[in-house]
Amino acid sequence: MHPVERSSIRLELRELAPDDVDAVFAIYGSAEATEHLSFEPRSRDQVEQIVTRSIAAATATPRTEYALAVIERETAELIGFVRLATDPHQQRGATMGFALRPASCGVGYGVETVKLLLDIAFEELEFHRVWGARSPLNTPSARTMEAAGMVEEGTIREHVFKAGKWRDSVVPPILDRGWNAAR
Ligand SMILES: CC(C)(COP(=O)(O)OP(=O)(O)OC[C@H]1O[C@@H](n2cnc3c(N)ncnc32)[C@H](O)[C@@H]1OP(=O)(O)O)[C@@H](O)C(=O)NCCC(=O)NCCS
Repeated sequence: MHPVERSSIRLELRELAPDDVDAVFAIYGSAEATEHLSFEPRSRDQVEQIVTRSIAAATATPRTEYALAVIERETAELIGFVRLATDPHQQRGATMGFALRPASCGVGYGVETVKLLLDIAFEELEFHRVWGARSPLNTPSARTMEAAGMVEEGTIREHVFKAGKWRDSVVPPILDRGWNAAR
């Protein structure tokens, strides 16, 4: 499906555009925003490649990746980056990722973003199961996914290799019927 778009009162999720590179770099290049993510801060060149690849992937058939910009409607600024990727090992399954620029954290945008992403995942893309994988130390992410209705299912041991060592991931998935019940 392309293009994908969804709005709430304060935010909009929309397809990425080439002009988004600097704003995405403010997130993926930030040591603070990526502290608990699976990768080190990206360079601007790497972010440009990610944005270019994501735009190309958006029109692939079948589409397996939905990388979207989070826009603050009042300012029209890109404040976040989210991603749904189909899970090759599970029918109608997808993994999700989300990150906001540090300056926009702490005012409820995290929960609003995840809810919008799950609306897209279940109502438009008709996934059955969506799951995230967070660092055990990522309390803001844990509370954000919990507030969006995701219930922690377990831990994948030594799931991510970062900064020279293996890290566990806590897995909070949500099923389509769970999302419908939460709505
Ligand atoms: C995770 C993230 C999206 C949360 O965004 P946010 O806009 O600050 O979150 P919200 O304001 O919607 O708050 C959601 C919950 O997190 C809690 N929270 C937010 N920041 C927190 C912090 N620094 N410490 C503890 N709890 C925090 C809020 O209190 C709220 O919990 P509650 O519903 O129990 O009150 C944001 O911190 C972020 O982008 N982090 C970097 C990327 C990342 O870690 N992504 C997740 C990968 S799994």
